[in-house]
Amino acid sequence: MDVRKIIYVLRAIGINGIVRTLQYGFARDRVDNKYSKRVSAVKRLYPGELQSENSIKGGILLKYEHSSVELIFLSPNLIQISWEPGKPPFPYSIAKSDWETQQPLIKSDTSSHSIILGDFNVTIDNTGDICFQDFKGKILRRDNPPIREGDQWNLSTILAPEEHIYGLGERASSLNLRPGNYCSWNTDPAGSYTHGNDPLYIGTPIYLSLSNAGSYLVYYDNSFRSYFQIGDNFKASFDGGMLRYYLIFGSFEKIFEQLAELVGRPCMPPRWVLGYHQSRWGYRTEADIREVVKGFEEHNLLVSAIHLDIDYMDGFRVFTINSNRFPEMKKLTSDLEDKGIKLVASLNPAVKRDRKYEVFNQGSSKDVFCKLPNGKILSGVSWPGWSVFPDFTKPEARKWWQDQYQSLLSAGISGIWHDMNEPASFAAWGDKTFPISTSHSMDGRGGDHLEAHNLYGLLMNQAGYEAIHEYAPNKRPWIFSRAGWAGLHRYAWNWTGDVESTWESLKQTIPTILGLGLSGHAFSGVDIGGFSGSPGAELYLRWFQMATFLPLFRTHSAIGTKSREPWAYGEPTTGIIRNFLKLRYKLIPYLYTLAWETAHTGISPIRPIFVENPEDKGLWDVEDEFLLGNAVLIAPILHEKEYKRRITLPRGNWYSFWDDQQYIGPSQFELPVTLETIPLFIKSGSLLPMEKSGKICINVYPDIDNTNSNRIYFDDGDGYGAWRVDNFHFNAKQNSMDISWVHEGEFPFPYPFVTIQIHGKQLINAIVDGNPRRIQGNTLITPIFKNLNLYFE
Ligand code: GLC
Repeated sequence: MDVRKIIYVLRAIGINGIVRTLQYGFARDRVDNKYSKRVSAVKRLYPGELQSENSIKGGILLKYEHSSVELIFLSPNLIQISWEPGKPPFPYSIAKSDWETQQPLIKSDTSSHSIILGDFNVTIDNTGDICFQDFKGKILRRDNPPIREGDQWNLSTILAPEEHIYGLGERASSLNLRPGNYCSWNTDPAGSYTHGNDPLYIGTPIYLSLSNAGSYLVYYDNSFRSYFQIGDNFKASFDGGMLRYYLIFGSFEKIFEQLAELVGRPCMPPRWVLGYHQSRWGYRTEADIREVVKGFEEHNLLVSAIHLDIDYMDGFRVFTINSNRFPEMKKLTSDLEDKGIKLVASLNPAVKRDRKYEVFNQGSSKDVFCKLPNGKILSGVSWPGWSVFPDFTKPEARKWWQDQYQSLLSAGISGIWHDMNEPASFAAWGDKTFPISTSHSMDGRGGDHLEAHNLYGLLMNQAGYEAIHEYAPNKRPWIFSRAGWAGLHRYAWNWTGDVESTWESLKQTIPTILGLGLSGHAFSGVDIGGFSGSPGAELYLRWFQMATFLPLFRTHSAIGTKSREPWAYGEPTTGIIRNFLKLRYKLIPYLYTLAWETAHTGISPIRPIFVENPEDKGLWDVEDEFLLGNAVLIAPILHEKEYKRRITLPRGNWYSFWDDQQYIGPSQFELPVTLETIPLFIKSGSLLPMEKSGKICINVYPDIDNTNSNRIYFDDGDGYGAWRVDNFHFNAKQNSMDISWVHEGEFPFPYPFVTIQIHGKQLINAIVDGNPRRIQGNTLITPIFKNLNLYFE
């Protein structure tokens, strides 16, 4: 441990805390030594000889000497494969079980058995080798027969030489995970992390494969600790459970829409969430919060939310508010609400072991805390010291936890931040979590921590989401969480945890967030400036500029770091930040539309640039740029004193956001950059809605000889009431462009006029619904129209 880490730990938990981490280390090891299963030498078992083959609903069941497998088409591009023996997964992550029965064609000969549906053909041979092909016979994936060793399953998938692998949840690695070794075991790296640390907080075993044959996605529906070795083959090994996985084939859009059907759709956030959030571990009192708000006002900086880290609690007792430091929380939230600012409060699963504390006493009497195999309640160490932890796999515990949110919600807290839910328990060495032998309910069917660990965060978020929904059924709950699993997005956003305040970690942010998005975690963010240190002005600014385009736009920092409010660095930093804040708020109609689309399709608004043209291999490794929706490509500055930046553009015509200069892709070129901006490109054929001072400007980026469709989504900003989608169809020719506008939904268009701003062409004439309309330069202002004909020079 380096000196900085030691100082951080001392500041965070003190000497007593350090002693407890030693005690906990011993206690955890003692328990695990006593109760963990002794594994004597185990045999490696291949499936063995085939004994029977039967048709079942949607597929086939094959029984081998040592194992059996079901292959079932749940839809024409989704296949479920389940190898037994092993416990079936409890379906916490799964959103849909009532799939319409498919009728695949089944063909068998003496050595193999195929099931064929739509464009896909799955063939399993008599040894248990499975080959997945498309209708042209291209091999998309090939699995060797899986091997069973004791309770463990090992599966080796043959990879094509050029195959790229993306996702597997949250990884501090390159975007393409190959080659590399990874573990799925949600982990608090304790202190901070950077490139190369693994595992991290969200280990979702979902990945996307891209090869010459096309793309597919796999979800290993197995929550046991698992390891992935990606080299010539993709070797997956699971510490228990049955070997169940889902494969989804098709285009990028189809894959993610199908995934959303399987593990659920992301939740639509309230509109305020898309603004800027200011946080710091160290805002300790109401006065601190009011001071920060004043700072935003005095510096004319926009802000939508302030976050309360653990210091608002009474001795870190979850669900309490320290009445000395926050004597009038309700008044504070309502004063801030008047200024359009929300308060978000942090919650940890650790409940202080304290007989004078109502939450602990109530939880104990309701028997909701995790226990050891001897029936004793498990004690771990967290911010409050010795603590106990709800067993979120127990329905009664989720319900009890859900009931606790009332106090915070009735004090006017608008959003919830779920932290430390890997679950984390501080330990001086070894695994910083519960003993493996901890007993869990698993909704009544029983299990240990090896199975329940990765599900813990997911289920805490489920309880939190349901609590907020029950308290205010007409509002959209907003939670963001550090840990999770497949399905987390149904309840919460996430952020990338305690990253180091270094240029390396800034650079790492892009592949990490892209990987999360490709694993179904659509809405993410990062601590701007990094968590653990005190970044210099340039690093903070570059981080801020990048995060302007991420769903969660939040500055956060560790206790003891230097102040990091957007004015802390003086000029020119504050002025540049002010402009990026304004830009973010102008983009809210675009961001809100993307959030709505994501809530329907499951596709993250943050995408790797290869989605523009997956056949272009030059894009497969680009991890220093990203797309925000279809229209915007961002190339952040990731190095100190970088005034020239190499840009990679996918095919198509791209406009520089700042000066409308046009660039043709696919291409690579260098661009000079200044401190004031970062390269941003808008795809031709796009429409970029921007809002300022209650007015909307629709920026039109014409394409050449092409048709495109774009849309904008509106509603009240919260709740489940009326909505509208405005669809704009572009028909562009060399010197003219027609735009037709139709809308769906009942929500009234929120502006009396729209400004249409043309980019990259000289406008000479505009006809609105058959009548000429006055233009000013490249702009015209008009009420809603059905047809607009634009003529260019
Ligand atoms: C964890 C969180 C961090 C938070 C701190 C104190 O380290 O990741 O964001 O500030 O706990 O609550």
